Amino acid sequence: MSDELSPEATSFEQGYEGALRPATLAEFVGQAKVRSQLSLLLNAATMQQRTPDHILLAGPPGLGKTTLSMIVATELDKPLHQTSGPAIQHAGDLAAVLSALTPGEVLFIDEIHRMARSAEEMLYLAMEDFKVDIMVGKGAGATSVPLELSPFTLVGATTRSGLLPNPLRDRFGFTAHLEFYGTDELVSVVRRAAGLLGFGLSEQGIEEIAGRSRGTPRIANRLLRRVRDFSLVHDTPGDTATVQAALALYDVDEHGLDRLDREVLRAVVERFGGGPVGLSTLAVSVGEEAETIEAVVEPFLVRTGLLTRTPRGRVATRLGWEHVGAVPPPAPGAPPALM
Ligand SMILES: Nc1ncnc2c1ncn2[C@@H]1O[C@H](COP(=O)(O)OP(=O)(O)OP(=O)(O)O)[C@@H](O)[C@H]1O
Ligand SMILES: [Mg+2]
Repeated sequence: MSDELSPEATSFEQGYEGALRPATLAEFVGQAKVRSQLSLLLNAATMQQRTPDHILLAGPPGLGKTTLSMIVATELDKPLHQTSGPAIQHAGDLAAVLSALTPGEVLFIDEIHRMARSAEEMLYLAMEDFKVDIMVGKGAGATSVPLELSPFTLVGATTRSGLLPNPLRDRFGFTAHLEFYGTDELVSVVRRAAGLLGFGLSEQGIEEIAGRSRGTPRIANRLLRRVRDFSLVHDTPGDTATVQAALALYDVDEHGLDRLDREVLRAVVERFGGGPVGLSTLAVSVGEEAETIEAVVEPFLVRTGLLTRTPRGRVATRLGWEHVGAVPPPAPGAPPALM
């Protein structure tokens, strides 16, 4: 049997992801600050019968940016058009999307930091004045023709808000910074999702999953599905023992570190003497994309105090050394260890 999921199975999983997505602000768990900020923005616009300001959603993967963009459209009762930065390679791609928008429509551009530069400039004008200049013809005879757009609300999402050019960032009326979820919030996420899946999971089981979800609802839902599978196949109750057995099978340790996290940490400690080591060197040594290490692995290791970032590179902390079972070097100035 192969480990690969069949296309049907994959879409089945994605179906679950869709089913677990909260549809309204009220259903959206946690992020209380962002929720009330968004709610105010949307309510004020609705009361004044205008389109709300453009919204930028910034934060690490899996915290609910795509979900919130859908919620914005639902709350406004307007259609949603979804696209992404990498799909917009030319200004013309963006012009086609913008000119097809209906009044009040919500345009979601995921990974907006990866849009082509020429499209970015077109977007500035579109966001500000609901207009674009379309170039007609080529060379010396080319002219620009202004085109009026329907008023729309842009919702941009980015995992790398630092990469957004200032003029683009400044044109968003509101930037929501999504933070990692607290354990209590994740408990609510898991409890809600277990209910939707019809999976009877004990309170301790819920807490055990929440504690290993590294502050991320997407991970909480994924771990929950693996635990549910385990419970189904082995016919075990949804209790702590099942959670522990299932997550041990998938190499998720009690702090939520997975295989890649441990590999990165081990590489820093064992291959680079604890660091400092540069991001790209580290990425090559574990055979991963630098972007994945930077956006997914590193923030978590830094947050849990296992790794620090210095101007010269990544350095494993004392806790980091201990986590991979190595003995940290003595702190500078500390008395030498007794033999
Ligand atoms: N606040 C929340 N309450 C409950 N479930 C949530 C919440 N936020 C996210 N989720 C769940 O987590 C999953 C991932 O969320 P989403 O796709 O919105 O993340 P994202 O920020 O867009 O990630 P990426 O940067 O990778 O695109 C969703 O399927 C949803 O079910
Ligand atoms: Mg997303």
